[in-house]
Amino acid sequence: MQLYIDTASESDAREFARYGFIDGVTTNPSLVASTDSSYRTVVETLADAVDGPVFAQVLAEDADGMVEQARTYDAWADDVVVKLPATRAGYEALGRIRADGIEAGITVLFSVTQAILAAKNDATFVAPYVGRLDDAGEDGLEVVAGIQTAFDEYGFETEVLAASVRNRRQATALYRAGVDAVTLPPTVLEAHFDHHKTAEGVAGFLSDWGTRGNPIESDD
Ligand code: E4P
Repeated sequence: MQLYIDTASESDAREFARYGFIDGVTTNPSLVASTDSSYRTVVETLADAVDGPVFAQVLAEDADGMVEQARTYDAWADDVVVKLPATRAGYEALGRIRADGIEAGITVLFSVTQAILAAKNDATFVAPYVGRLDDAGEDGLEVVAGIQTAFDEYGFETEVLAASVRNRRQATALYRAGVDAVTLPPTVLEAHFDHHKTAEGVAGFLSDWGTRGNPIESDD
C-alpha cells in the first residue's frame, strides 16, 4: 500500500517525510499556484524533501502540448510521475508518454469506465476523486472500490490512487477496502495521529512514573 501526501508545500512535505510512512508527494496545478514558486521549483523542492515520486500535472489541453510538458517535467527530478486529465487529449498523450517509458497516469477521474481506458493505455496510476464525487451526491468509495475490483479481476498493474480525500472517515473506508494507494492533504494526515485515549493513556503512564527519572539510567 502506498501513502502519499497531497501538497505543494515544502514544509508540509518535510514535516511528514520525517515520520517515515510517506511514499511520495502528489500535487496539482491549484496547489502549485498557491505557492510563490515556479512549477519546476516546486517539483524539484518536493523531490528533495520526500523519498519517493513527485506527481506533477500537465496544464496543456492538447495532446502535443501534454506530451511536451510531460517530457519536460520528467527531466526535473529522478522520480516524476506525470498526471494527465481524463480528457480525450489526456488519453492520447498517455499512450504516447507511456511508449516513451515515462511514468504517467490519469487524474480528475470519476468513473470505472474512465479508469478502464487508462489501464488499457498502461497508465501507471488512476486517481479517482473521492471527495468531489461525494460532494456531487455520488458514492466516492463505491467508485474507487469498483475500480480496484475491476483492476484486480483483469490483472491490470495500474495503481488505484484514491485522491480528493477530505477526512479521516473517508480515509478509513479506503483502507478497509484495500485500495492500492491513497493521497491525503496534510490536515487529514494530521488527524490520523489523534485519539483521545492515546493522549489519556500516555499521560497516565507518565503520571504513574512520577519523578523516577530517565529509564535508561541505572542505579549506580
Ligand atoms: C489529487 O492528486 C488531487 O491533487 C487532489 O487530491 C484533489 O483534491 P481536492 O478535490 O480536495 O482538490
